[in-house]
This record gives sequence, C-alpha cells and structure tokens, in this order.
Amino acid sequence: MNALTPQDFIAVIGAGAMGSGIAQVALDAGHRVALYDAAPAALERGIGAIDAAYRRLRDKGRIDAATHAARMARLVRAGGVADLAGAALVIEAIVEDIDVKARVLAEVEAVLDDDAIVATNTSSLSVTALGARLRRPARVAGLHFFNPAPVLPLVEIVSGKATDPAVADTLFATARAWNKVPVRCASTPGFIVNRVARPFYGEALRLLAERAADAATLDAILRDCGGFRMGAFELMDMIGHDVNYAVTRSVYDALYQDPRYKPSLLQRELVDAGWLGRKSGRGFHRYGDDAARPAPVLAAPAPRPSAVVVEGDLGVAAPLARLAADAGLAVRHVPGARALLRVDGVALALTDGRGATRRLAADPQDAAVVFDLAFDYAGAAVIAVAVADQAPAGALDAAVGFFQALGKQVAVVDDAPGLVVMRTVAMLANEAADVVQQGIASAADTDLAMTGGVNYPRGPLAWADLVGPAPLQRVLANLAAAYGEDRYRTSPLLLRRALAGQPFHAPAAAPERAA
Ligand code: NAI
Repeated sequence: MNALTPQDFIAVIGAGAMGSGIAQVALDAGHRVALYDAAPAALERGIGAIDAAYRRLRDKGRIDAATHAARMARLVRAGGVADLAGAALVIEAIVEDIDVKARVLAEVEAVLDDDAIVATNTSSLSVTALGARLRRPARVAGLHFFNPAPVLPLVEIVSGKATDPAVADTLFATARAWNKVPVRCASTPGFIVNRVARPFYGEALRLLAERAADAATLDAILRDCGGFRMGAFELMDMIGHDVNYAVTRSVYDALYQDPRYKPSLLQRELVDAGWLGRKSGRGFHRYGDDAARPAPVLAAPAPRPSAVVVEGDLGVAAPLARLAADAGLAVRHVPGARALLRVDGVALALTDGRGATRRLAADPQDAAVVFDLAFDYAGAAVIAVAVADQAPAGALDAAVGFFQALGKQVAVVDDAPGLVVMRTVAMLANEAADVVQQGIASAADTDLAMTGGVNYPRGPLAWADLVGPAPLQRVLANLAAAYGEDRYRTSPLLLRRALAGQPFHAPAAAPERAA
C-alpha cells in the first residue's frame, strides 16, 4: 500500500473552511499544494486563513519562521483549473451540490493525468453517484475530513461502487502519512460517523420531547454519567441547529425514512425560530456574556443508608458494590436470579430498558428505582435514577442517599424506558452493529471513527462488549416493547452476538481510547 510522497503535487478545490484546512494538512506533510476557488476573494481568504494558522503555531513555538515561510512557499495560488495539471491527487471541497461538484470535477479531469486520484470531501452526497458522472469512476473516492481539518484526526476513506481498491489503499496510506487516523467505509448515507452518531441526538431529543428531564439535566447526565465530552443539547447548539437538522433530514431521507433516524419537531421549532445555537446567541441554551451556564436539576441531600444487600450479579454495574464498601456502607452479597441492590430494603436495579413502573407492576419484589449506565461508576460525578409511579414512600430517598453516600450527585429523571445513557449507548451500538453487518465498515474502524471523529469516550461496540451484547439487546427489546416502534428494532448482528454470547471485538483488540 503506497502513500503519495511529498514529491507528489496536490490540488485542493474550494478554499472555504474545509478546503483551506485540507490544504494546510497537505502543506504540513511536505507537498506542493495548489488551492483553487471560483471566487477570487474566497481564495484570498483561504490563503490568509492558512497563513494565520501558521502564525498562531509560531506564537505557540510549535513551528519556526523558516518552516512557516517554507510551507507558504509551497502553496500555489491557482487562477484556474488549468493550474491543477500534474496533480497526483485532487481533493474537492466546494459547495455541497452534486451537479456543481460533477461539473467542476469533469473540467478538472480534462487536465489530469490518467493515474491521478479524484477525491471528494462531501459529507452527505453519494460517492458512487459522483463517480458515475466522471470519466473514470474507478479513481474517484471520498476523503472525508472533519472540521477543523488540521486539528481533528479522523478521515473517512469512502469507496463508491466503482472505486478501485488500490485507490482507497493509496488514500488510506496517504492519510496515515499525513498523521491522520483513516478509516475505510463504503459509500452510504452519513458514512460512518454521521450515521452512527444520529441516535446521540435523536434519543436526547426524544427524551426532552417526553419531558424526561430538561436539556441541562440531560446534558449533565450524558457528560458526567455517560462520559461524553459534551451533552447532546450543548453539542447541537455548538454545531448549529440548521446544520445538525439538515444532516439528520438528509440521512433520514437517504435511508428511505427509516424511523430510526426520524428528525425531531423540537429541533425543527428551533430552526424555525432562528434559534440556531451559539452562533445566534440562543438554541436549547442561551449564550452571551450575561447568560448563566445552564444548571442541571440535582437531588437535595438524602439520609445515608445503613445496609446494602447485593442480590445476584450486577454485571456492568458490579463496581457499585465495591464503591459502597469503600464508602463505609455495610455490604452483603446474596445469590439470586435478580440483579438488585437492596438499600435499606428498597430494590434498585440498572435499567434493562423497562421503566421501574413496569418492573414493579410485573413483580412487586423487583426494582422500585432504576439507575442509569455510567461510563465508569467510580469516576461518574452524576448518576441518573427514576422511581416507579407506584413505589412505596421513601424509595427515591433511599436511592438518592445511596448514590450520594458514594460521592455522586443524583439526577432524578422521569421513568423513561432505558433512561438516558443506557438508551443512548444501546441505540449507538445498534446502529454500529448494522454498519458492520451491512459491510459498510469493520467493527474496529466503526469504533475508531466514533472515538477519533466525535471524541466518544468509548466506541459503541466496545461499549456493547462491556455491557454485554445480551443485556444490551434486552434493553433494545424492552424499548421496542415500550414504544411499539420499529425505531428500536434490534440489529440482526447484535441479536446474534447476544444469542451466541460473543463480543464484537476480540478481547485484546478492543480499540478503547485512553482516558
Ligand atoms: P465553504 O462554504 O466554507 O467553502 C466552499 C468554497 O467552495 C467557497 O469558498 C466557494 O467559493 C467555493 N466554491 C463554490 N463553488 C465553486 C466552484 N464551482 N468552483 C470552485 N470553488 C467553488 O464550505 P465548507 O464548509 O468548506 O464545505 C466544503 C465541502 O466540505 C462540502 O462538500 C461540505 O459538505 C464538506 N464538509 C464540510 C464540513 C464542515 O464542517 N463545514 C465537514 C466535512 C465536510
């Protein structure tokens, strides 16, 4: 697998946010780079942005003046398509319109050598369809960088139907040589990241629509219990609701309105109101100098419990028993088919996708309070809990007091099936399992894409392995039963892993990001 070498000439079309960033990445790697834009002012802005980025690196002492000058000297200001002749690789980053992209790339093809590679940075268009409109579809591939390209490591190498595997190999090796983290995938709506990430937004929006908790509390749970870098609402506010809603709509439509990807009316309302997030000063949260940081609703102090009985195997929640002992609580283990924590006689359980109300209705000995999955129970600052509608008085206090005794804050949410983190993780893993089963990407690349591209604390499939494919599949089955919707159907591959008791990753190979 041969990477392009620094001797190879690279052409970048479109000098906007992405094109200028991609040109910078290629300059950093030692290439001569031609940057072209149809709008001369945009070209100047793009070149100015690259120069300013190098200036900042100099200010930080990361590069010296000579390196800055040498890199800028290798940047060619292309006045027209003819100036791209001789390029070994053309990367297109112009407006997201397949007709415009096909027209410009057809012009470029006319000046390229036969063995030059044509790459598109499209986020949402079909690489197959774009390739089919060019003279040599075999040399067309997706090279999907993330914004800002010089900073974010992930690059999705997207093969269309006709893409020559050798072309994908060269792009993969080149992206590695450029110090990026490449993953391979087939041309499909949203590729890996924009598809697998949909439930992160979708489930949070749904929980908010059902008023399980307010946006700030759901954000705090995803962050401080789930380990996600940002909560879904603050992240959508940062991305911009116009952009995020458009991506969701495009994936939903491209997948023939599969209910799994259904957009949310709540988000549409924000778009209609012009509350686009940070950039307009208001989204789910308010921004600006005088805006207070949105505060989650957390439970008031409750009495410390005296005795804890661990009944059965708590599975992924097992660390809670040790944490309770470390906190000085008297902990006793008893065998049992149920997986419960009995705190002063009140039964608590990790959510299995059923609400506590439903559990208690089916079995009066079952959990009166359910709690959420945590990224790491020892490190979690917040734990989400929900209490059954028919729970005895004091049940919630016992649960709150228990987690507070472990040093946690407690977010009491409505009795929503699957709570917040478990439901999100189950749906992310379900989506990732489909991506693997459908041959879009490998399990390793799918997890790597989600950790490297959107900074997830753990790949969805590594998370499925940790919870266990079988318990996770039960969560989905219970969600499907609770809602009666196709949205929560189990991926056939996840079901098979659950039935066979097999993980997605071989135990030693789980691509987990260092904390
Ligand atoms: P942008 O609007 O910042 O820049 C696009 C540039 O292309 C503009 O400077 C424009 O003058 C130029 N352009 C438009 N039509 C042209 C033509 N016919 N010939 C030459 N230049 C032309 O857009 P941005 O954000 O850089 O996006 C570019 C591409 O990258 C799109 O396909 C987008 O979907 C994709 N992308 C965007 C990401 C983002 O976060 N902004 C992330 C990953 C991919």
